[in-house]
Amino acid sequence: MADARPFHWEYEPPKVPRERYLVTGGRALEGTINVSGAKNAALKMLAAATLTGERCRLTNVPEIEDVRAMTDTLRDLGVVVDHPEPNCYEISAGDVDWLFVPLEAAAKMRASFMLLGPLLARFGEVIISNPGGDRIGRRPVDLHVDAMRTLGAEIEYRYGYYYAKAPGRLRGTDVRFPFVTVMGTENAMLAATLADGHTTIRPAAREPEVDDLIAFLQKMGASVERTAPDTIEVHGRRRLRGAEHRVMPDRIEAGTFAIAAGITGGHVVLDGADCDTMNALVEVLGRTGLAVACAPDRMDVDARAVGPGGLKAVDIETGAYPALATDIQPPTAVLLTQARGRSTVRETIFEDRLEWLAELRKMGATIDVKSPHEAVIEGPAALHAATVEISDLRAGASLILAALAADGTSSIGGAHHVQRGYENIERKFLDLGARIERVQEGELTATA
Ligand code: EPZ
Repeated sequence: MADARPFHWEYEPPKVPRERYLVTGGRALEGTINVSGAKNAALKMLAAATLTGERCRLTNVPEIEDVRAMTDTLRDLGVVVDHPEPNCYEISAGDVDWLFVPLEAAAKMRASFMLLGPLLARFGEVIISNPGGDRIGRRPVDLHVDAMRTLGAEIEYRYGYYYAKAPGRLRGTDVRFPFVTVMGTENAMLAATLADGHTTIRPAAREPEVDDLIAFLQKMGASVERTAPDTIEVHGRRRLRGAEHRVMPDRIEAGTFAIAAGITGGHVVLDGADCDTMNALVEVLGRTGLAVACAPDRMDVDARAVGPGGLKAVDIETGAYPALATDIQPPTAVLLTQARGRSTVRETIFEDRLEWLAELRKMGATIDVKSPHEAVIEGPAALHAATVEISDLRAGASLILAALAADGTSSIGGAHHVQRGYENIERKFLDLGARIERVQEGELTATA
């Protein structure tokens, strides 16, 4: 197979619109918002739809940049992707004729690597770019590749691309991971649905998004089941059928807005939130003194009784589900800057996910980063407006939260990071009474 191009060193990232958020703090947020569908479920389902040539219909899909990037990548493969109405995508992978996932796709969105399993299992070969690392960590994909090799694939790595072949069908087997990997579990599971024989995946990630993906696959006729908390078993089928599925609510988006209520001393109701997928966060918010009430499809977060400086300091530690999600660690760290006393933040999943705290310090937070995995936060801090830069999706949402609690108008650069994973985030904050706008770089900048 000729070398895939562009080579990684030839790649020019596309120009992204340089936009900033201008956020004026000091108002308690009040009101109700609808929680969108989960990014980290929807992206895998879009990839899973390539396991069949029949039409799949996904609803409650968030309208975010990552979904647009995934549907563009699917179309480049020859997949027909229709978008009949907002939050609804119909995918028909009948005529896939280009089994190549280029660097452009991988550079825009890591989850493009989720196409390895389904394309390899269904078409027996694929060339796919190594997604590389990002601002939260090195993020290798070695465990994905090992799992595919265990399932019988031959995979060669050249100049930033994986050349994968599955002579005949993949073969069901025991896939063992040295530690939990979410997308590693999902990629192996998708591949195993069309493999010859029985596959056991252990330790399988327990994230609720994995179970939502299992529900979709079962509707497609796959024989896949979680047979123990950390075990997924799959009996391979010759082919799968089309199916319809509603994507679960986004627990990270819900958590971000729950914290927005806490940090501004407000009261926010999250329609569509599923507390059962957020127990670790609900427990943390409760320990800080926030009033959190859960009902089916609804979460009510009330900070009015706590009042400024009334939050209690707590120690948090991220981990694989059901521990506290690493994606909600940055917003929680912002909340802890407003808590009375010393809080410790331990990040166990990604080695660079505390680096963004340097931007939070520019807003007056008292934070001592002890190591790549531990930071100590002293509070309550009187946050003030500043000009800061976003490094990644969750850090971006967290800087908006900090600015909502700060005195003055902050200017937050790199809005495109947030657009990747939060649907209509400005609209939702405006509906809660926040003062926020997204402007082109160079337009009005305001700092205290
Ligand atoms: C998923 O990433 C999510 N992304 C991440 O959300 C989330 O933070 C992460 O799971 C953990 O919950 C999507 O679902 C699209 P991992 P994933 O494999 O699957 C190491 C967000 O903000 N590792 O569970 O890539 C890895 O470096 C994003 O929405 C290997 O060493 O995470 C990390 O340290 C950010 N080799 C650890 O395992 C591998 O082959 C866990 O990562 C794979 C992973």
